[in-house]
Amino acid sequence: MTRTRCDRTLAWGELKADFDARGRAFNLSQAFSADTERFEAFSQSAPHVFADLSKNLIDARTQQLLLDLAGQCGLEQHRDALFDGAAINNTEQRAVMHWLLRKPPLAGVNKYSSPSFSVADQQLLEASAQVHSTLEAMLAYAQTVRDDPLITDVVNIGIGGSDLGPQMAVLALAGFAVPGKRFHFVSNVDGHELAQVLQGVKARSTLFLVASKTFTTIETMTNARSAKAWFEAQGGVDVGRHFAALTTNVAAARAFGIDTTFGFWDWVGGRYSLWSAIGLPLAIAIGAQGFRDFLAGAHAMDEHFRTAPLAQNLPVRLGLLDVWYRNFHGFTSRCIAPYHSALRRYPAYLQQLEMESNGKRVDAHGDAVPFDTSPVLWGEPGTNGQHAYFQMLHQGTDVVPVEFVAVKKPHHSLPDHHELLLANVLAQAQALMVGKSDAGGHKHFTGNRPSTFLLLEELTPASLGALIALQEHRVFVSGAVWGINSFDQWGVELGKVLAKDLHARLASGDVNGLDGSTAGLLARLQA
Ligand code: F6P
Repeated sequence: MTRTRCDRTLAWGELKADFDARGRAFNLSQAFSADTERFEAFSQSAPHVFADLSKNLIDARTQQLLLDLAGQCGLEQHRDALFDGAAINNTEQRAVMHWLLRKPPLAGVNKYSSPSFSVADQQLLEASAQVHSTLEAMLAYAQTVRDDPLITDVVNIGIGGSDLGPQMAVLALAGFAVPGKRFHFVSNVDGHELAQVLQGVKARSTLFLVASKTFTTIETMTNARSAKAWFEAQGGVDVGRHFAALTTNVAAARAFGIDTTFGFWDWVGGRYSLWSAIGLPLAIAIGAQGFRDFLAGAHAMDEHFRTAPLAQNLPVRLGLLDVWYRNFHGFTSRCIAPYHSALRRYPAYLQQLEMESNGKRVDAHGDAVPFDTSPVLWGEPGTNGQHAYFQMLHQGTDVVPVEFVAVKKPHHSLPDHHELLLANVLAQAQALMVGKSDAGGHKHFTGNRPSTFLLLEELTPASLGALIALQEHRVFVSGAVWGINSFDQWGVELGKVLAKDLHARLASGDVNGLDGSTAGLLARLQA
């Protein structure tokens, strides 16, 4: 696999020179005056998503240098390795194939019918067959739950990728959800969360979905044990009807006492698992056709990413812009501003996707990188953010690129709300860019603050699938340029080990060998 780390390419030096010569002083308003075609040149249609990139601090020359950078880093080869099922998660020796979960069944070819068919092809074919038989089983199960009027509450117990994806998507597609069922998401080991949900449900009408790729995560196991104990204490007996497990570790789920299981595979990363059995709450909410549409929207984006030339490839353009902002402008964060209240967990979902994938300080070989990687992602739905932190975005000392998401057609019929919402999202992007002069200082807006505008025709299963796949691939692009492994997450391990030790020490009171602060706090918590 040919991968060259960005700082070892010719283009990296050229971009540095370009930034010093022109990029630092780039002015958006001047760029629009100088180029009447700027909107067309810097906008891009991709499946289900239109993107206006024209309000970004970039021109044709910088974009070309960024594309050169992608070429010199071997982005296309790395992308091909992803879609070939190569073990690109090198620290865990795993393939990365969430895209296969949304690809229609690979059929009609086998090793006997084509002499060029390789062992790898055969493995993909077999993986695809497993994906689709599991999908069929899961969708059939989802249908039985949908058809069962006695199940009124579905409680998903999972954390990280086993929570954020399904929660975000169930909320986003609430307008498509089966009536008469409530969905709850319990992730935190903080018992307040589970206790509150249990207070509002009845054992006889609740289905618990224990979602965990590994089936070892302490938060999920603790919540699942407590939920099962509560269920039994309420007189619940039919665990088979009221508990299902979504996991790659079916044996552990069975040992836990759950026989209804839907599996997936180690080549699906936790934060990329929404398309697998982890998507069951969504499948129950929106049904088999809705879930298939969701997969199809994502697949259309996969095909765009896989085949479009880099210069017209939306995930590539977004990922390269991220590199430009992080490594040349030095911007440390990106604000995610979805102007649709149903997308309220979208910023949280993207935090895991990008920061767990690209929050790395070493490259794929384990060598420290001499440049910055993942920015901080944060945000809230508009217009709420406008009345909280947009002050800082407009007049603060840091420049924070904003990524807006707007949806053309609403899912309600209240007059004028949607027009006001759209006017606001347009106004914020405009104000960030054009600013406003005021000699007095306090009312002065510098403007020239960049933003990207993603536009969906409508928020549907297909468009949500495409939007999420777009985000997955843009994270892949920046990770590929940085030469890091975007598919492991060793950084979460240390805290888990220490928490286990401190859990025992909280019981025993032993502070031996602890640093002064942890020992002092532990003593206070024990007293
Ligand atoms: O701790 C991080 C992490 O491993 C995430 O990557 C993952 O999504 C989450 O924990 C939950 O893991 P699991 O699905 O195995 O319970």
